[in-house]
Amino acid sequence: MCGIFTYYGHKNTAPELVIEGLKKLEYRGYDSWGIAYKTNDEIEIRKEIGKIGDIKVKDLDLKHSNIAIGHSRWATHGGVNKKNAHPHFTEEKDIALVHNGIFENYVEIKKYLEKKGHTFKSDTDTEVIAHLIEEHAKTHEFEDAVKLATQEIEGRYAIVVLNSSNETMIAARKGSPLILGVGHTEGEYFIASDIPAFLKYTNKVIYLDDNQMTVIKDGEAKFYDMEKHEEIEKRIVEIDWDEESAEMGDFAHFMIKEITEQKETLARAINQDPKIIEKVAKAIESAKGTYFVGCGTAGKVGMVGEYLFAKIAKKHTNFAFGSEFSNYKDFLTKDTLMICISQSGETADTLEAIEVAKEKGVKIVSIVNVETSTMARMSDIVVPIKAGPEKAVASTKATTSQLAILTLLAYACDGGVKKGQQELINAAGQINDMLNPRYEEHIMKIAEKIKEVESMYIIGRGANYPMALEAAIKLQEVSYIHAEGFAGGELKHGPIALITENTPVIALVANDDSKKEIISNATEIKARGGYIIGVAPENDDIFDFWIRVPDTQAVSPIVNIIPVQILAYQLAVLRKNDPDKPRNLAKSVTVK
Ligand code: AGP
Ligand code: GLU
Repeated sequence: MCGIFTYYGHKNTAPELVIEGLKKLEYRGYDSWGIAYKTNDEIEIRKEIGKIGDIKVKDLDLKHSNIAIGHSRWATHGGVNKKNAHPHFTEEKDIALVHNGIFENYVEIKKYLEKKGHTFKSDTDTEVIAHLIEEHAKTHEFEDAVKLATQEIEGRYAIVVLNSSNETMIAARKGSPLILGVGHTEGEYFIASDIPAFLKYTNKVIYLDDNQMTVIKDGEAKFYDMEKHEEIEKRIVEIDWDEESAEMGDFAHFMIKEITEQKETLARAINQDPKIIEKVAKAIESAKGTYFVGCGTAGKVGMVGEYLFAKIAKKHTNFAFGSEFSNYKDFLTKDTLMICISQSGETADTLEAIEVAKEKGVKIVSIVNVETSTMARMSDIVVPIKAGPEKAVASTKATTSQLAILTLLAYACDGGVKKGQQELINAAGQINDMLNPRYEEHIMKIAEKIKEVESMYIIGRGANYPMALEAAIKLQEVSYIHAEGFAGGELKHGPIALITENTPVIALVANDDSKKEIISNATEIKARGGYIIGVAPENDDIFDFWIRVPDTQAVSPIVNIIPVQILAYQLAVLRKNDPDKPRNLAKSVTVK
């Protein structure tokens, strides 16, 4: 989590530039923010609590500087307050740094440094890194001091460090994302945890890989492999994201912009190079055991995968959340296939699952949005979903594109990639017609009605069961209403006790062999006073409120989740929550 953004170059407005860049990364963390910048031989620090998006740069009275580092925090160690906000620095402010990740062994190193006379002002793990570098800098050059310090850090991290005595900026990473943007003028560099932060200035990037470090000094960036202790060459990659696609345009929030974009993003996902889909299908056919792995929403997409493969391809596959995957490690062999699903490609739990799998020689496929992410670079085959930048914390367009790819794969394993494409194209056309202001107004009626409820439930069967779980995540994360998803048949085994007069229950209905049963489950709930919101191709007498969706059969998980995304968004707005930046969350979860 957390957003890192730094500038090194000729412009003397580095502090302003860094603040503007951090605003674009706010989806990564928004507990507090801070910057450090160089003026002559001093480092100036500015930190604040709360969202950086609300800040007006001209009110900050910043000095001129051409080197600055910045951070927007998602706290892991130490409460959300000014002293714990980054950048962290040493007593004399000779070292300042921003950090993403967790320094797992910081307690013992802190004790060791305290014995050496260091005193600490914050409760963070990060501050210890600044002091550790300072300690090594007593006997080593700045660059070597950073290198030595990183060798002592256990855990995943990305850091960028400044020192007061020279114009050098050093960045290093292991497990957390860090990308270098190469400016159009010579000697100008940006470092960020995600590309949109510097898209305005450049589309030329260099990806730092794990255990690599860059030292920017005298207008030049040099790269080092910290394990092999040698200088390395890095390639500049030109990326094709345009700045506009990462901006909000006329929409009130990124979430509704991204929901609406599903008209186009689905078509892009479906019109994949069929060769990639067939290549993955072959890998599934020849594998002895396929695992879908993902976290949160991407995890629910993986669960849908299990159902799609059972139904369409008549094939047994397995699902595991990234954080649970290592439990299966004794079943993994070089013939196992792992299919990872992720928007960001930077989710630490999924990356760790890949590390476990790789040790056993497992072949890795990733279905990702960020094609250049760590996950994509760790994979044998990458299936890009091509949804474009997704900035709202709640995933919407990436979810449906991932679902589309899994549907294509299931059809491809049944020998019918073209049939799958046709079904999806047909559904995408109907979704295009469905996503219009009248549809949103219709859903708004139910949002108004249920906006004050304490709890609500979602039920589904077959592939719509994991979609019920996904619907619950969507409602929880932006509306903060207690929402839970269940398999339709499971309610009567316990949860039905939660239903009282007018408890809203959303039934996700597909026009297939599960239809009768889900309607019958909804009827059982209605008999206990529940208020039934049917998301279904056809109306039914037991629905108190009907949200119509296209009749698409195998594509029903995709069409059924879209109205719930809209409902969640509307509830967030009605309840005066920020749908793009829900409390306690961050877009990419780069810590365990
Ligand atoms: C989605 O709405 C959530 N914010 C979250 O569950 C997310 O899907 C999860 O953290 C996985 O992220 P990824 O797709 O970037 O790996
Ligand atoms: N562990 C650090 C902290 O709690 C960094 C968190 C982050 O990645 O934002 O401050």
